[in-house]
Amino acid sequence: MSTTYSDLVAKINQWNTAYHVLDNPTVSDAEYDQAFRQLLALEAENPALITPESPSQRVGANPIDEFRKITHRVKMLSLDNAFSLTETVAFFERAAKELAVNLNELTLYSEPKLDGLAIAIHYHKGILVYAATRGDGQVGEDVTHNIKTIQSVPIKLVTTNPPDILNVRGEVFMPKLAFEKLNRLSAQNGSKLFVNPRNAVAGTVRQMNPKIAAERDLQFIPYGIGDYSNEQRFSKHSDIMVYLQTLGFKQNPHCTAFAASLNALEKNYATMAQQRANLPMEIDGIVYKLDLLEQQANLGFTAHHPKWAIARKFPAEQVTTQLLEVDFQVGRTGVLTPVARLEPVFVGGVTVSNATLHNMDEVERLGLHIGDTVVIERAGDVIPKVVKVAQPGTMQTPIIMPKHCPVCAAEVERIAGQVAYACTNGLLCAAQSAERIRHYASRRFMNIQNLGPKLIELLYGLGIVKTIADLYTLKVSDIANLEGCGEKSAQNVIDSIAATKVTKFATFLGALGIHGVGEEGAKNIAQAYKSLDALLVVVDAMPADFSDANLITFKVNIPNVGLVMSKNVVNFFKEPHNRSIINAILGAGVILEAAEATAADQTPVLFGQTWVLTGTLTMPRPEAKALLEGLGAKVAGSVSKKTTCVVAGENAGSKLAEAEALGVTVMDEAAFLNVINRNNIKP
Ligand code: IVH
Repeated sequence: MSTTYSDLVAKINQWNTAYHVLDNPTVSDAEYDQAFRQLLALEAENPALITPESPSQRVGANPIDEFRKITHRVKMLSLDNAFSLTETVAFFERAAKELAVNLNELTLYSEPKLDGLAIAIHYHKGILVYAATRGDGQVGEDVTHNIKTIQSVPIKLVTTNPPDILNVRGEVFMPKLAFEKLNRLSAQNGSKLFVNPRNAVAGTVRQMNPKIAAERDLQFIPYGIGDYSNEQRFSKHSDIMVYLQTLGFKQNPHCTAFAASLNALEKNYATMAQQRANLPMEIDGIVYKLDLLEQQANLGFTAHHPKWAIARKFPAEQVTTQLLEVDFQVGRTGVLTPVARLEPVFVGGVTVSNATLHNMDEVERLGLHIGDTVVIERAGDVIPKVVKVAQPGTMQTPIIMPKHCPVCAAEVERIAGQVAYACTNGLLCAAQSAERIRHYASRRFMNIQNLGPKLIELLYGLGIVKTIADLYTLKVSDIANLEGCGEKSAQNVIDSIAATKVTKFATFLGALGIHGVGEEGAKNIAQAYKSLDALLVVVDAMPADFSDANLITFKVNIPNVGLVMSKNVVNFFKEPHNRSIINAILGAGVILEAAEATAADQTPVLFGQTWVLTGTLTMPRPEAKALLEGLGAKVAGSVSKKTTCVVAGENAGSKLAEAEALGVTVMDEAAFLNVINRNNIKP
């Protein structure tokens, strides 16, 4: 029985290598599936049989809770970069000189520079034991659970004579086609798109749940080794690469060895630049390494990179085209982003007709006008960008941030402390609504089961759910007749919404999707105010045109929350639309549990802050000082950048001027007393 099992494991692993490493399938999908099912059945019947190298062990059962730290026994270094032929030649001239040989006596090995994520995979007696990210080079993160799902990573090395220790280093990447497919799916599900394959890889490898990595086509190609218990066997880097292939690893395409010379380096670069578009993966340059390991050892390393290898980077591809129009897109948080509509042009392997302009500062920096001929580039990044104006257009039509939201026509305002402008219509703007509902129901916040992004989109599109409050008046009949739904699943949705009606104040606050208020910020605010009612009392007591000093009274006892976040929160709750939606939610029976008192509440509220008193106050200075100190603040005699707040009484002079010059918050005595009163110390 166990021979059958190990034969089966070996057979499937062999098929995997043929398919995923050698790109040369040896069985039909049906035969493969049947064998895999047989394996799973055997393992289910007799779990004691399961070995680590079984292909069933690629996707571990459970998500991990946190990324363990792993110390690299041999540091993972980066590479020096060259941006021209001259720089590349100069690098190897220096190496030759140090080795006391002529340039053309050096043998170089060239490899495409894969654009992904560096990973070290550790094998003990031929079995994969862990895989780690580069991290800071010394300490990386344990991502074994995700790396094991990569079919081109052998779980067991293909050899009868494995070294005790072998640490394989290489790049995890996502092929171009897989990346496009992933973004297509993300678009369909309404999830965020990845900017480029490298980001997609980083986002996938740093997931807690290995099922996500298993669903995405990640691949691994080695480019070297770290610790190895039998090093003397190799004299050349190229031999190590061949050895790794025999162990079951994929090979980097188009690697060659040649004698170093200006001509050879030029020719190699030209060939690779030409191959680049045809390769199945993104590459961002070529890595040249000295092939002889002895020479590598003689040259050694700097703190950051080896002195025997350099990356010659490809320049970003640039073309010129015309800027036809600029539109403004409204995102989930209401931010308006200028988007360039371009005369379609082919660059970096795709036809481009849009480019993001990021924000109005960027538009200004570029000196951009509609009708201009512009230079655009598409580097490793898939989203192209406008680099500069090549030739101003004749009309010089300016690009203007609209005063009203292009989606809901509400007013557009600059966000405090940022370059961005946003629609002020919070929970009611259509562009923001579907996204906000998704955010509200998402796992991190209200965690409403059975109410996924697709259903939300559908309900929103049909006008059944326009705001988050509408979720609470949904009926089974609203959902039952929708595509892909039925009575039972409709009932499940309604039940799930009802099941989340009692929730923590912090959860609800985060779920509202206020600018800049994520999980952490919501927790801090909830912890400080304890309940929504308490928060609203303070917000409502503030004048409509509240000042920074007013804001200080709002944020004064919230640790780690700054003026900008406070301003966003106050603005949000001062907006009548938002208040009516919240009232409707509470009216529908949602109960917000107040935050519990914690040890942190015992920390004086002004702890860590420095205040300065100046001018004439109605209360004696020592008393004001004692009150502040009673709340944990330090009271200083002079103003600096580190000052939290200056309390300015009548006839305040130079300290007030200094505070204003440094942008330090200033409050008058009334606001100061507010802070004191709110914290229950009687003046
Ligand atoms: S060798 C000690 N070879 O590029 C030498 N790196 O910019 C370490 N990379 O961190 C690197 N393809 O993630 C090497 N053929 C290749 C590579 C490669 C991609 C990445 C690697 C490295 C980064 C440095």
